[in-house]
Amino acid sequence: MESRQSPSIVLGVTSAAIFGLGLWGCGGSGVSVAQPTLQSKAALGKALFFDKSLSAPTGMSCATCHSPNQGFTDPRPGFPTSQGVVKGLFGFRNAPTAAYAAYTPVFQQLAGTGAIGGQFWDGRAADLAAQAKLPLLNPIEMANPSAASVVAAVEKGPFAGALRKFYGATIFHDVPTAYSAIADAIAEFEKTPAVSPFSSKYDAYLAGTATLTAGEQSGLAIFNGKGLCFSCHPSTTAPDGTPPLFTDFTYSNLGLPKNPLNPYYSLPAKFNPLGASFIDIGLQTTTGRLTDTGKFKTPTLRNIAVTGPYFHNGLFLNLADVVRFYNTRDSGAFGPPEVSANMETSTVGNLKLTDQESADLVSFMQTLTDGYIKP
Ligand code: HEC
Ligand code: HEC
Repeated sequence: MESRQSPSIVLGVTSAAIFGLGLWGCGGSGVSVAQPTLQSKAALGKALFFDKSLSAPTGMSCATCHSPNQGFTDPRPGFPTSQGVVKGLFGFRNAPTAAYAAYTPVFQQLAGTGAIGGQFWDGRAADLAAQAKLPLLNPIEMANPSAASVVAAVEKGPFAGALRKFYGATIFHDVPTAYSAIADAIAEFEKTPAVSPFSSKYDAYLAGTATLTAGEQSGLAIFNGKGLCFSCHPSTTAPDGTPPLFTDFTYSNLGLPKNPLNPYYSLPAKFNPLGASFIDIGLQTTTGRLTDTGKFKTPTLRNIAVTGPYFHNGLFLNLADVVRFYNTRDSGAFGPPEVSANMETSTVGNLKLTDQESADLVSFMQTLTDGYIKP
């Protein structure tokens, strides 16, 4: 069996060595903080993405839950959802990858039922800049009390000079404008090739520079055939040349059961008044339509071998179990769905895959990890 590749997209951490510290005056504040030279909005956004001073208390950055060493997901083991900066507080959803999110189209509600695009499992942020504003203020994530407090932290910190340089000398005069600039810079970083490198074995295979093993090849055929995976996770290059993103950005209710290990269920009533009876209604949160209850956005499968646990509630720890769910959901072995309305029945639940076919599907998904180096 082939060993897993870990992504080699190492982006580094905020350190003087990486950003090349120089001393800039800090206009008017009277305090001089070492100001690294940053060459672009994206470089500033990268610095902010890794900046652990942007949480309250300090210590958590975007990268805490979206680490480049873990396919831009949460590397901390032990829980199906992410712990916030305040110890013991957890969100109710598994952290998806921030990689390739730049390719997600702006949220668009479809007539009747469903939607395409948008950020988060339920599409409630239209795009990356809108998304980046939310975790900073979420009390169970980075927990800053206000946009003003985030802006004040950046103004006092090492990246104030760069924010002024790229967004204007008066950027700190207006809190909403400054907060939007911070989010915009982070989004610019997320749009860079470092976050979406398209450097997997499968990319090399499509480019004709790598060969799939027999098992991987068989897995690809099942992915595009008997497994019906391609119908929501397209595996081919788009007409405009964009390499396959393994998502069509649509929303489905796969009929997943609740995850009893979700730590959100035992949060204090202040954060979760419903306790263990909380139901995640997914897309309905965003559209308000009953026809969207229980639907979640189809995620990319790029880097999927290193981004477990899987699904919006982190139910499964490995890909073999994911495939077993798609293959045999309708046997009832997984328990009742959390939301039984709008359940996808035509492509999911009874695929009649053999054990070998299931194993091959997993082998194929393991070719989607970035940082492939030809042996
Ligand atoms: C405490 C963990 C945590 C932190 C910190 C965090 N995130 Fe997330 N992120 C999540 C979770 C959980 C979700 C999914 C939430 C949902 O769908 O309701 C998410 C969703 C996202 C998405 C959407 C991906 C998609 O395909 O829908 C992006 C992009 C993202 N985060 C970027 C960021 C950025 C930028 C920051 C810093 C400003 C950040 N995150 C901080 C946990 C975190
Ligand atoms: C009807 C559309 C659809 C089909 C068909 C489909 N998927 Fe999915 N896939 C989704 C959606 C939607 C999610 C997220 C569901 C959730 O978390 O509630 C998902 C999630 C996943 C995940 C977890 C991703 C993550 O980051 O947690 C994997 C792995 C996956 N699918 C693989 C497959 C494979 C393999 C097949 C074929 C056997 C397949 N999918 C068929 C829509 C689909």
